[in-house]
Amino acid sequence: MADIRKKQMASETTEAQIAVHWREEEYYYPSAKFIGQANLTDPGIVERFSEKNYPECFREYADLLSWDKYWDTTLDTSDPPFWKWFVGGKINASYNCVDRHLAKHKNKAALIFVPELEAEAPVSVTYRELYVRVNEFAALLRDFCGLKSGDRVTIHMPMVPELPITMLACARLGVIHSVVFGGFSGEACGMRIADSGSHVLITMDGYYRNGKLLEHKAAADISLDIAKKEGQVVDKVLVWRRHAGKNASASPFVKARDFWVDELLPNYSGQIVPPVPMDSEAPLFLMYTSGSTGKPKGCQHRTGGYLAYVTGTSKYIQDIHPEDVYWCMADIGWITGHSYIVYGPLALAATSVIYEGVPTYPDAGRVWRIAERLDVNIFHTSPTAIRMLRKAGHDEPSKYNYHFKHMTTVGEPIEPEVWRWYYETVGKREAVIADTWWQTENGGFLCSTKPALDPMKPGSAGPGMPGIYAAIYDENHQEVAAGSGKAGNICIRNPWPGIMQTIWGDRDRFVAQYYAKYCKNRNSKDWHDWPYFAADGAVLAVDGYFRILGRVDDVINVAGHRLGTKEIESACLTVPEVAEAAVVPVVDEIKGRVPEVYIALQPGLVASPEIVDKVNKVIETMIGKIARPRRILIVPDMPKTRSGKLMRRVLAAVSNNMSTGDISTLANPDAVEKVREMAQGKESVALADGPEDLKKFGTED
Ligand code: WT7
Repeated sequence: MADIRKKQMASETTEAQIAVHWREEEYYYPSAKFIGQANLTDPGIVERFSEKNYPECFREYADLLSWDKYWDTTLDTSDPPFWKWFVGGKINASYNCVDRHLAKHKNKAALIFVPELEAEAPVSVTYRELYVRVNEFAALLRDFCGLKSGDRVTIHMPMVPELPITMLACARLGVIHSVVFGGFSGEACGMRIADSGSHVLITMDGYYRNGKLLEHKAAADISLDIAKKEGQVVDKVLVWRRHAGKNASASPFVKARDFWVDELLPNYSGQIVPPVPMDSEAPLFLMYTSGSTGKPKGCQHRTGGYLAYVTGTSKYIQDIHPEDVYWCMADIGWITGHSYIVYGPLALAATSVIYEGVPTYPDAGRVWRIAERLDVNIFHTSPTAIRMLRKAGHDEPSKYNYHFKHMTTVGEPIEPEVWRWYYETVGKREAVIADTWWQTENGGFLCSTKPALDPMKPGSAGPGMPGIYAAIYDENHQEVAAGSGKAGNICIRNPWPGIMQTIWGDRDRFVAQYYAKYCKNRNSKDWHDWPYFAADGAVLAVDGYFRILGRVDDVINVAGHRLGTKEIESACLTVPEVAEAAVVPVVDEIKGRVPEVYIALQPGLVASPEIVDKVNKVIETMIGKIARPRRILIVPDMPKTRSGKLMRRVLAAVSNNMSTGDISTLANPDAVEKVREMAQGKESVALADGPEDLKKFGTED
């Protein structure tokens, strides 16, 4: 029986498991047609951005921008690892993304909004219109809310043009925006309001998702209660309206606190707000992301360096020209959307598409219909979306007459099989693919092929970007040689302009998280002594291409989005019946990884569907639907070390049908068998091998 099961499982290898068996893949080359029009065709870029020209090489990116005052120091390393870029310079991000394009492009679409319902026609916002709307809203923020540079504002909005308009209005005033992904719960939003110290929350009444108009403003009410409990009072809530003349939300307005934006805006009609020249080092925004410990961290991004980095990479790696129609399907509530829907493309005067809804609504052809209708020629999405579209409509792309010149994949490792479908079926063998590896902390791409210069290799992100000196270090701080086949920790040896400034309000955590592990000398002011630790495992091939294996810490990458296991566990522990909780990643065919939850109950309690239900609900309300676990298993006993530490690594092995390795030293080895029976049934057998990141998963606490 066990034998049959084993055979069956081996023949049913899922897409996500293909990663385990990766071999060296063959090269694919960009077409002459692509090369003929590309922004970056000079191989001299490698030399120009080599170590001997560092850090001045990054002037080339900064020079793509319009500065109010040119900087005097390109890189200041006097307070490691708090690097400063383009010091002495003054610049405004809103001016660079809007005003400076008016002379040449005022009638060109800056944004094209595609509502989820196909009956609603796409809406174009020209650069001139964007200018007017950003100015009016900036006037409202300044005069009605009293906001000024350095203040923080939390924005909890869906994918609508009012979101970039809000961000750019903040940037115009030097107000630091903190956009919280619209799918996050009111609780999650409230914690971020409190941490950032925002007095103003900007939201919307509702939005479309899967054909339904979802109520959204209710989350604002919850978030304000949570923020208040944490000691932060919000005095104004600005609510954008999804449909003129309608209210999509049943939640009541609180007098003198909640305001409809469209009722206030006429007071600011036609007003012009001069863009505030900001210090290059002034924070532009906060973006919260999960880490190994419970509390999400506010990644603080600077104005000058960040904008220079996303503009440079949008031009050279995304190959954006002003005449392109560029569509990134990410949500603006994540860093990908900030850098590569809003700031990078708009700084280059591109047309950036914003799609409100679900890629497969109302059917598997929707994405390709949008591409055809808008004549999109640059497309940007995640492996999860690609897997989903492939499953839902393998042959759909060929039914539509669109032509991409360039496609990006980002957020997770992409399986070579899935890569080939993207290349052959979606890209119709015409488009180059850039597999871009980076993180919320990084501002922009760290590894990718240069689209007209480097061949592509399915499953590998590629070499370090120009000016990014990436290396793999082992646990003994030794560099792992290219071609050794050994995995290690990918690090960036040098500072770059897109790297975050710090964790908002927590300098120590910034140093501990990213620099403590490989710092060679804490007293050194030489950047060579401060490699950046990314917390990803990777392998470096002889050709200098990095293949990213996944996280080495307690972070689960669900559909390209980071969730901390500790965050989910602390949510579970708020259910009174729960004594212990352990969250582990499980391989999922579409989403890459999903969380699975193990629970031990308080003594004397019996497992019941009601408890499972409670745990499910609490995860959804405290974090959001994105964190929904595949299963919640109530087990009699958690595997533990003799000192009482929870063995998440063993649970992860069980959940993924992998071998648990030696468990004889545990305090309760019998517990593992019981857990395995519960998770897999009596006839279960362990497969010997599993994905690299899961083998390493789980720090014990
Ligand atoms: C983590 C960062 C900023 C991009 C969106 C996600 C994983 C990201 C790739 C890639 C393999 C990737 C890493 C990284 N990741 N891009 N091309 N290939 N893995 O940003 O939420 O900060 O997550 O996503 O594990 O550490 P994020």
